[in-house]
Amino acid sequence: MVQVWATLLACLAAIVATAGATSNNLTDLVTWDPYSLMVKGERVFIFAGEFHYERLPNPVLWRDVLEKYKANGLNAISVYFFWSYHSARRDVFDFETPGKDIQVLLDTARDVGLYVIARPGPYCNAETNGGGLALWGSDGSLGKVRTSDAVYERAWKPWMDAVNAILAKNQISYGGNVILYQIENELQETTHSPSNTLVLYMEALENATREAGIVVPTTSNEKGMRSESWSTDYEDVGGAVNVYGLDSYPGGFSCTNINSGFNVVRTYYQWFQNYSYTQPELLPEFEAGYILGWGSYFFDQCLAEHDPAFADVYYKNNIGQRVTMQSLYMAFGGTNWGNLGAPVVYTSYDYSAPLRETREVQLKFKQTKLIALFTRVSQDLLITEMESNGTGNAVSTDDVYSWVLRNPETGAGFYTLQQSSTPSREIVTFSTFLKTSLGTVTVPMVNLNGRQSKILTTDYHFGQHTLLYSSADILTYGILKGQAALVMYADAGQTSEFAFKDNTDLSYKIYGTANISSSAVSFSNTTSYSSHIAKKYVYTQTYGSTVLQLSNGVLVYLLETQTAWTFFAPPTTMDPNVSPENQVFVLGPYNVRNVSCSDNAVILVGDNANTTNIEVYTGGHERTIVWNGKRLDTRRTAYGSLVGTAPGATDRVISLPQLSFLVADSLPEAQPDYDDSQWVVCNKSSSLSPTVPLTLPVLFSSDHGYYAGIKVYRGRFNGKASSVNITAQGGAAAGWTAWLNGHYVGGNTGNATQWRSSAILDLTQTSIPNATNVLTVVTDYTGHDETSTGPAGVENARGLLGAALYNGSRTTNFTSWKIQGNAGGNANIDPVRGPMNEDGLYGTRLGWHLPGFEPSVSEWKSGSPYEGLNKSGINWYHTTFQLGIDADLDVPLGIELDAPARTEASVQIYVNGYQYGKFIPQIGPQTRFPFPPGVLNNRGENTISLALWAMTDKGARLSNATLFAYNVYQSGFAFDRDWSALQPRYTMDRSRYR
Ligand SMILES: *[C@@H]1O[C@H](CO)[C@@H](O)[C@H](O)[C@H]1NC(C)=O
Ligand SMILES: *[C@@H]1O[C@H](CO)[C@@H](O)[C@H](O)[C@H]1NC(C)=O
Repeated sequence: MVQVWATLLACLAAIVATAGATSNNLTDLVTWDPYSLMVKGERVFIFAGEFHYERLPNPVLWRDVLEKYKANGLNAISVYFFWSYHSARRDVFDFETPGKDIQVLLDTARDVGLYVIARPGPYCNAETNGGGLALWGSDGSLGKVRTSDAVYERAWKPWMDAVNAILAKNQISYGGNVILYQIENELQETTHSPSNTLVLYMEALENATREAGIVVPTTSNEKGMRSESWSTDYEDVGGAVNVYGLDSYPGGFSCTNINSGFNVVRTYYQWFQNYSYTQPELLPEFEAGYILGWGSYFFDQCLAEHDPAFADVYYKNNIGQRVTMQSLYMAFGGTNWGNLGAPVVYTSYDYSAPLRETREVQLKFKQTKLIALFTRVSQDLLITEMESNGTGNAVSTDDVYSWVLRNPETGAGFYTLQQSSTPSREIVTFSTFLKTSLGTVTVPMVNLNGRQSKILTTDYHFGQHTLLYSSADILTYGILKGQAALVMYADAGQTSEFAFKDNTDLSYKIYGTANISSSAVSFSNTTSYSSHIAKKYVYTQTYGSTVLQLSNGVLVYLLETQTAWTFFAPPTTMDPNVSPENQVFVLGPYNVRNVSCSDNAVILVGDNANTTNIEVYTGGHERTIVWNGKRLDTRRTAYGSLVGTAPGATDRVISLPQLSFLVADSLPEAQPDYDDSQWVVCNKSSSLSPTVPLTLPVLFSSDHGYYAGIKVYRGRFNGKASSVNITAQGGAAAGWTAWLNGHYVGGNTGNATQWRSSAILDLTQTSIPNATNVLTVVTDYTGHDETSTGPAGVENARGLLGAALYNGSRTTNFTSWKIQGNAGGNANIDPVRGPMNEDGLYGTRLGWHLPGFEPSVSEWKSGSPYEGLNKSGINWYHTTFQLGIDADLDVPLGIELDAPARTEASVQIYVNGYQYGKFIPQIGPQTRFPFPPGVLNNRGENTISLALWAMTDKGARLSNATLFAYNVYQSGFAFDRDWSALQPRYTMDRSRYR
């Protein structure tokens, strides 16, 4: 009965709270107003992280990543669904194999407690192959992509119907967590006219979405401030979405100069006021890292992108401008394994993201957590108006810029302070003038430690209490079993102060090293409450944590920033909208995944590299901490928390084998007598592709059913020829090599900024004894283009664009051309690893990369990539080995490759059948390639292959091919599982793909 009343009251409260909310009239479960989104009638700050399950092919690890998102304060994931990944050929969709079972992803998000923002394209960009458009359409059959072209619509409609059917039943209205749905991606409304093809395209997508039963609000993402697209508030001629969004990547960093960039954008607020004033401010993609491409720097080198100060200054700058919905791109990038990348990226899609490609938490994520947890509980922040802003605003110096937001209902204020010039590393100390409900307070000694931002609060409500003001950042608060606990943070040495509005005459106890003094607050411009005496607490932050226990029942944790990085507030609810009641506070470890409480114990699951102290505050009377199944020696502090020691993994021994290989030739196709009778004959005289064939027949690989990966061509001609002019296009960094009757005749070793290259190969140096001669050309591949990279996007051809044969000055003809690509072409013979994983190399076609393949004694000999080849060619190095990492450890493993200077090669790395890396030593930059559990078996047998393609007759060898561990974590996640479903084994029928 009591419960019923509580529910009824909650419902009433919700109705009151959402009076005036805008609905799309399809569901009332997700609504909005100019201030915030509302889910089930409750306002919520959306702090999301982008996640591409495609870039992590092990669904068990989706949970690992999502738990780390949750632990670091995020409450939503934003997800692209790549059509290319699910559709090997027209109108066929795989949502069943493990890495493509998006129901598992959506279930995992629900179980972990994260909302889902669905972004199914059909175009995604995402630096993915073809921008996510189906690669079977790279032959030109998609029509005019991203327009209202009927040919294109016939292509995308079945995909949207298929993915929408799954998304629809996972909406919040059916107990799932999908709350928002983005239409298309960064499509710019260039012409505001109802008959414009882009407007009609948007409408057609929206129609398809609604027909499929998607009822949650639709969203968009403006590609920077480049146009004004799809907002109901601005020249709406059709195609507008419910909630307009703006993408922003403002960092402008350099990987060589950590001082460049770091200028925040201060025009978001005005932009949203101009173009979407009836909606909350949504940043559907906000920089969490940035892309780097072939021939540039490796993500680890780009120190500016890893700075926790970026999160601090930029995310607070968004909050200061009234943003209440933002998503970090990428929060975890993952890996462009199996040809997932577009040519603009190399194998790693680490993105310098807060969660590394190795699934390790960066400091930047820990700083993000301090802000995200603040937004998770700060109800006052969800209805604010811009009160004032500017240089010197509300502060005593022009060195500081501030944004002042005020909640018109509660009077709460949020003062976001930043350097006037945000790149500045100057330490500035100044006074801030805070307007409280009792009068204006001057807070002296506010300090910005260079690239730092602070959000000062006034009349901040938590539970039954009101903080009159605070000049320390609030991390979060909890009402834990009725006990109010407030957590604040500041750098060591920074002086802050705060005061309560209620219960001014408090006594207190201090636990910790920070000195705290109390005195009366003095007000200027006092209000009618001027007789009110408020007491302020002034302290200088010291390392570690200090706890203040006040006689009003409030416990205040004062954390030094780096200590705050080890603070967690695991929820005790699956609801992504975590209320202050449904949490436990934990301080100390590297990661805390989840919590449950029994009568006597607090049961935590997490991860630790080093052995750390652990402190747990629940507000309850538990006596023991259980950490990863182990009962810790637990002590109870005077203020009611539990403390113990959480073990790490520093004393654990990881032993990795030295790899020893067998070798075989993977280029028999260069020999003139190679039997290619089963190969596809290139006999087309025209192509739908906008790329113009330079010679006929059409040699574009997609026109012959081979989309992703390396291709092998064989062209025959009779009699004499003196030269051949070859043009190949494989994307940035992709080279090609040609052999005549088995002899190297030239090619191109790739260029980071060239997609295509031509060369006239001299054939006179090679004796041409045969009546029939065979020119074998192998073309490398770094992906199909996105439409944002012209001229033709996904339909920009790959493989050979032309081959003109000459005898002296006379043109002569090839008698035939044949092509070989990935085994089975679009038949998708290995659906688990997917349609894009393989390539046309001889060894791959024959399944040498697969677990269970046994090298025959006749064909294989022992050999090492350290010896390599002494002329051009392709050697396949194969090894199997056992690993026996302890079951309770998470050890991200990888391989490090290197080659002597001036090596010109392309190396494909296969791990248990997954193409999990591409190393191009002459271009770089990537030399370290991580392999997640499930791709690699941390316990059990593994098969690794390196296909070493020497691109010139100089030959090629590696100088390093070593397994290594990035780090060692003791973990409660249980990474020791049976991964066999992810690793289908070799079968004999592979021999048919010779
Ligand atoms: C929802 O219905 C109301 C009342 O009929 C109408 O004013 C509003 O425009 C509708 N909203 C949408 C998004 O169609
Ligand atoms: C979308 O659906 C509406 C209502 O059925 C229809 O009038 C309109 O023509 C459709 N738009 C497109 C572009 O298909």
